[in-house]
Amino acid sequence: MDARPIGIFDSGLGGLTTVKKLTECLPGEDIVYLGDTGRVPYGSRSKETIKKYASQDAAFLAGFDIKAMVIACNTVCSVAYEAVDTAYEMPIYEVVSAPARASAISSKNGKIGVVGTAATIRSGAYEKAIKNISSGLTVYSEPCPLFVSLAENGRTSGDDIAALAIAADYLKPLIEAGVDTLIMGCTHYPLLRAVISKIMGPEVTIIDSGAETAKMVAADLGKRNLLCSGKEKGTIKYFVTDSVDGFSTLASRFLESEVSGMVEQVTIE
Ligand code: DGL
Repeated sequence: MDARPIGIFDSGLGGLTTVKKLTECLPGEDIVYLGDTGRVPYGSRSKETIKKYASQDAAFLAGFDIKAMVIACNTVCSVAYEAVDTAYEMPIYEVVSAPARASAISSKNGKIGVVGTAATIRSGAYEKAIKNISSGLTVYSEPCPLFVSLAENGRTSGDDIAALAIAADYLKPLIEAGVDTLIMGCTHYPLLRAVISKIMGPEVTIIDSGAETAKMVAADLGKRNLLCSGKEKGTIKYFVTDSVDGFSTLASRFLESEVSGMVEQVTIE
């Protein structure tokens, strides 16, 4: 048993979709969240810059005596996971392996689509993870850089004409390829689930990277005897690197609930 908090970070607020899923699996755990809102998006940046930012994010969270860390950012996990993992002794969880496993289980025709930021898709991390599970699976990847802006600006309704037009353009090659399973390989994308499902059609299974990771984290912390002792509701502390103005409104969209708990602006560079 371990009552210390779990640290979670993302480039911005997308990681809150993972926080939501983790609190559903482990409601009693305390969480310290860092969103690097002053430097989001990471997905259009170089590998070196993403590594530098990720190391600073992780070092900030490690200062809280956390028992484990979740990198709730596919971009960081795809290009900088080892850099963070090797720097700490605590379990460091990434958000690529669990959805890759889920997609292999879900796909009937062996054709799996992946959407993510430019850096995530360029890294080939999902292809590697899925091919490691079964070399018979075929992966079709498409970068969707404007999805993060749509999510952060609230353009996420299944009736939003701009969101639907952008999604139709990005997802066309995946529809043409005949994928039957699509991984949302970015923690911002669950906000766009209605838009993505509408374009892909009801027969395509959509996989949420944060949701799959939350289940894996809950099971692994249990195995390591690192869960807290059956508290009913844990606390969440939020840290951001840009102004806290408007945080609650925006964050509540990602959490699908009101933000309770402290929010503070910090400098991590
Ligand atoms: N939420 C991040 C991810 O999962 C992407 C946002 C960004 O580009 O910074 O990849």
